[in-house]
Amino acid sequence: MSETIFSVTQEHLETGLRGYPVGYCTTSFVDPQKGLFYIDEPISKLVDLDPLDVVHMLYSGKRASKEDLDAFKADIQKRAHLEKETLKTISTLPKNGHPMKIFVCALITCGMLEGTDNYQEDCLNLIAKIPLIVAASISHHAGWKLNPSDPEKGYIENFTDMLSVPDSSKEDLLRAFKTFNKLHYDHGGGNLSAFVGKSVASGLEDLYGSAAASMCALEGPRHGKANQDCLEFTQEILEKLGEEASVDDVANLLREKLSKKELIYGFGHAVLRVEDPRASIFYESAQKHYSNNPLIKMALLLREAGPKVLKENPKISNPYPNVDAISGALLSAAGFNYPQYYTVLFGMSRVVGISIQILYERNIARGGKGVPIYRPKYFFKGKA
Ligand code: MLT
Repeated sequence: MSETIFSVTQEHLETGLRGYPVGYCTTSFVDPQKGLFYIDEPISKLVDLDPLDVVHMLYSGKRASKEDLDAFKADIQKRAHLEKETLKTISTLPKNGHPMKIFVCALITCGMLEGTDNYQEDCLNLIAKIPLIVAASISHHAGWKLNPSDPEKGYIENFTDMLSVPDSSKEDLLRAFKTFNKLHYDHGGGNLSAFVGKSVASGLEDLYGSAAASMCALEGPRHGKANQDCLEFTQEILEKLGEEASVDDVANLLREKLSKKELIYGFGHAVLRVEDPRASIFYESAQKHYSNNPLIKMALLLREAGPKVLKENPKISNPYPNVDAISGALLSAAGFNYPQYYTVLFGMSRVVGISIQILYERNIARGGKGVPIYRPKYFFKGKA
């Protein structure tokens, strides 16, 4: 007999399923006090690994031997190509919308032209192709030359070289892109984009279509676009207060904003009750490499001032910085000052975890039968 692990009361309704258990996740979990774990290891222990070593761990559920990793990397390299027609179609998409829209269309196009209708194959193919899809989408939107792909250079090395980012240092870009990529692969089973991807796949939509749906979910400002909004918020505070601002100046401006009911970006999280360990990793890198950068200095002042001010309101359950509070400032300091692409970079990484989560729900869950079509119950209420 199944154990009752949660009983639903009226308070659980119309709260975005907050904390309501709906399934199992085999890749990662988020502990409110300790933050993100990939499989059974805290993210802080994995951040120095090669990106594909981390991807393999999420895919296989364990740390692998060198032979297994070499074989996995060779397989991913072999799969990392895009058909000419896919690239051609991406190059005809309209440029005057948010780049996430181009990215979503690119995913659908790739699925239409290169999908295999096999979740396992598509999962590995999409992991391999995603840096190419994103490089093509960003280059098209930015009007940058798209350099040829050479997957043998490495997963993120190839991505970085495909982009022609003006006036940038390859070393800085590569370090920032690698860290960003590894920190965003997965965040438990219940974040909106993962949940949407799995829901859509439960109707047996293919992996590319399900991933595209999940990326629409990611695009919203309450989810993935928060990293763009946070950078713009940090820039706004810097412009208002200048480079000589103190923690108290920042705290007073935040109080003023709160009194005017304006939004404060970069703090709080649905699950976490401490500073997001992904943010802590970014803060450390920012302090190490860019401590004199004005945006980084402001992001660090916000790290101090934000919790101080938000704790003044006892109703706020998590006054601490989340990953978005610093990820954009770090990318900008590293020479990628293009906030309009930050959510696309988030998507390039998150597609990995979501694809692996979908693979579990389609092919492995319930002894291989898979999770049935999502069909939760809504109470009829009539006209409110
Ligand atoms: C994420 O990484 O997906 C965000 O922190 C949002 C979440 O976990 O709900």
